[in-house]
Amino acid sequence: MIQIAIDGPSGAGKSSVAKAVAARLGIVYVDTGALYRTVGYYVRSQGITREDTDGIVSCLPKISIEVRYENGAQHVYLNGEDLGDRIREPEISMYASAVSAVPAVRSFLLDTQRDIAAKNSVIMDGRDIGTVILPNADVKIFMTASDEARAKRRTLELQAKGMDVRYEDVLREMRERDHNDSTREVAPAVAADDAVLLDNSGMTVEESADAVIALVKQKTGCAV
Ligand code: DC
Repeated sequence: MIQIAIDGPSGAGKSSVAKAVAARLGIVYVDTGALYRTVGYYVRSQGITREDTDGIVSCLPKISIEVRYENGAQHVYLNGEDLGDRIREPEISMYASAVSAVPAVRSFLLDTQRDIAAKNSVIMDGRDIGTVILPNADVKIFMTASDEARAKRRTLELQAKGMDVRYEDVLREMRERDHNDSTREVAPAVAADDAVLLDNSGMTVEESADAVIALVKQKTGCAV
């Protein structure tokens, strides 16, 4: 069993790179942001504002989250329903960031994440994987890229899903979200002391995946 933790700000290419690495190593890719997005989606659907911490906490007993792997892809079920790309909307990104700062939400999602890593070899991406969720991960990477490169990638990704978004708005919301995520009191998005920093601004997904796999080989001695 192997555990690879990939943390970093939004749009750093964590998910594309982690998916490529998972496919090449034959391990499970876990997108933990999808869990926070799912909670954010539910909170918004109840008409609760992002600032209403008590309202957010009051939703938790009404939420059941299940993660399933279907044809190698992760699906998150909210009270039995697969929300698909609805959790990718920019409005839901802002809700996900807001709910993720609430300690009760982080505890609520802790076991779901650790259970998957206890049963499978994983490459897990998020903000606190190397620091909180899997502190003993075999390999920890803090992946980042310039703000502009990240906003450009995110804009193209959302447009490819058919969403009507503009680069300027994506850049502004991304900066706001990164600020919230890295300055919150609980589990801020910071590199673990033993994480390797990977700035992939000028790199393709394949080049970044090569860099991750080289690190896995180096750290674990596995001929992967
Ligand atoms: O990775 P993402 O953009 O899908 O994550 C959505 C939000 O969820 C992000 O703004 C911060 C939060 N998040 C978190 O706090 N911890 C994680 N491990 C993953 C995501």
